[in-house]
Amino acid sequence: MSGRRVVITGGASGMGAALVAALSDSDAQVLSLDITEPEGERVAAAAGAAFLRCDVTDKDSVDRAFAEGVRALGGLDVLIHAAGIAPSSPAESTPMSMWESTMAVNATGTFLTNQAAFEHLRERGGRIINFASAAGAKGLPGKAAYAASKGAVLGWTRTVAVEWAKHGITVNAIAPAIRTPMYEKTRASMTSEQLAAHDQHLTTLIPLGGKLGKVEDLVPVLEFIAGEGSRFMTGQIFAVDGGSLMVR
Ligand SMILES: NC(=O)c1ccc[n+]([C@@H]2O[C@H](COP(=O)([O-])OP(=O)(O)OC[C@H]3O[C@@H](n4cnc5c(N)ncnc54)[C@H](O)[C@@H]3O)[C@@H](O)[C@H]2O)c1
Repeated sequence: MSGRRVVITGGASGMGAALVAALSDSDAQVLSLDITEPEGERVAAAAGAAFLRCDVTDKDSVDRAFAEGVRALGGLDVLIHAAGIAPSSPAESTPMSMWESTMAVNATGTFLTNQAAFEHLRERGGRIINFASAAGAKGLPGKAAYAASKGAVLGWTRTVAVEWAKHGITVNAIAPAIRTPMYEKTRASMTSEQLAAHDQHLTTLIPLGGKLGKVEDLVPVLEFIAGEGSRFMTGQIFAVDGGSLMVR
């Protein structure tokens, strides 16, 4: 990753924060973008990375952050778009406001950040890595709006992978199962019976270890996809999930 110029959204928490630290450690030049300001700044400063506040649902905010941030980096090689939200609700009682905010962050955020990155990658090529979810491929009971928004991420990713290939830009998606603050929120929303059933379900769902992985399980995969070695791979869903999305 040495010298690669990388923008990471969602850099204040979870996988985005782990990647800000790990890629900075690998001598990449990292710009972290997040709506959560003090924490985003703290994580970036500890890693020696840059930070800008950015709301991925807002075109002006995204375009400003990319214009200012990429100028400071001296160009762009990689976008890792990890910002996302995952609220829970039964499908039939999902409020309109939850549907709209989930689509805004996860689907529109992907659209806006990818378009902004494209402007900086179109001449020299590069990598776009979007965080989708197994939920977008196979659904997720209790998170219908989230699953729909991640389905949108997959459709967008596969389409621009084709459209932007002629610019030397690869566009891939990650479907992770990694223990982060987002997953802790999901666990906290469950009753003790639901939690017991969930943990039992994971033992068969995830062949490698029976539970979600750690950020350390994700970092080497991201370094590979963000690096030169993945140049002939595009439009893929990379499941980093202990085998839960495997077809069987
Ligand atoms: N944790 C998992 O196992 C899992 C599974 C499937 C998909 N994902 C996806 O991976 C990505 C990272 O998830 P995580 O578990 O690290 O989550 P997380 O909650 O720890 O971090 C998400 C980050 O996104 C930021 N964010 C939210 N709304 C934003 C906005 N409008 N503008 C800018 N930033 C915003 C938050 O401030 C936070 O820092 C998400 O897209 C998530 O949907 C996670």
